[in-house]
Amino acid sequence: MERPLILDLVRVTEAAALAAAHYMGCGDNEAADRAAVEAMRVAMSRLDLHGVIVIGEGERDEAPMLFIGEVVGGGGPLEVDIAVDPLEGTNLVAKGLPNAISVLAVTERGGLLHAPDIYMDKLIVGPTCAGKVDIRRPAEENLAAMADAFARSVTDLTITILDRPRHADLIARVRAAGARIKLISDGDVSAAIAAAVRGTGIHAVMGIGGAPEGVLAASAMRCLGGEMQGRFWFRNDAERERVRAMGVAEPDRVFTTTDLVPGESVVFVATGITDGDLFRGVRFFGGGARTHSLVMTRQTGEIRFVDGIHLTDRSRVGAIQL
Ligand code: FBP
Repeated sequence: MERPLILDLVRVTEAAALAAAHYMGCGDNEAADRAAVEAMRVAMSRLDLHGVIVIGEGERDEAPMLFIGEVVGGGGPLEVDIAVDPLEGTNLVAKGLPNAISVLAVTERGGLLHAPDIYMDKLIVGPTCAGKVDIRRPAEENLAAMADAFARSVTDLTITILDRPRHADLIARVRAAGARIKLISDGDVSAAIAAAVRGTGIHAVMGIGGAPEGVLAASAMRCLGGEMQGRFWFRNDAERERVRAMGVAEPDRVFTTTDLVPGESVVFVATGITDGDLFRGVRFFGGGARTHSLVMTRQTGEIRFVDGIHLTDRSRVGAIQL
């Protein structure tokens, strides 16, 4: 993918983040999400590509924009598949909590697993532990393998888990093994990125979250050298059939990082909406705003944080601060 286009992709998550950030603390999840979706779609229409939404806001009949199968972009010879979550962490924005991001991943056609909006059991680790864990093994064994990889004790590991009743057993086991836990209310994509970056203090993400978010997390792992393993977590047979209907022959198997994102060319972009472990949130000032984004390309190995200044009033250029 051409470099200028990659910067254009950053503009897409920046636009969604800027729109959603105005809704911080508003208490209205849907309004925040709608603002992000609308802004992302407008920004996408300016891209020189012919994209198909593979992971999006839902099926065509339930989502008016960025629905699965929607053709996006301004056209051109570049044919890509796109996964989006204009606002990952709607509750986080509505309540003004940390770690809300706007995120997308782009691959060549066929480079992303088609995952419906159901749950997925996930095990996500960074490069240090890649190849050393197995979601089929008990949590205690994976913790021991991670401790070994980091040359530290299990008590010095921190695992991020979504704070949900369905995780009572997992949480009890991780606690009993002695590891520290960061319980989060939402936002397992940003947690996944944090697990793959040293210095965040997060060593893994475990437990059940959204499957579409799993594909986005796997895209980030492809760029960061981390690993994600996932298993669909079906609540009924109809959900299993939905996965089959999306072309997945063995819905019950374990999906590796490359099963989830088989693409060779993977670009991952995220922009912070609220302050978080990795990103500054959107900061507004008189006449503009500042954004903080991450853009990564698997093929070239480029990883770049982008500090964006967005002037709504160019005469206020003097308002920019360090
Ligand atoms: P939304 O931004 O769509 O609300 O998703 C937030 C999130 O916390 C994801 O990060 C996570 O994968 C999923 O929801 C968990 O789903 P649930 O809230 O149903 O447990």
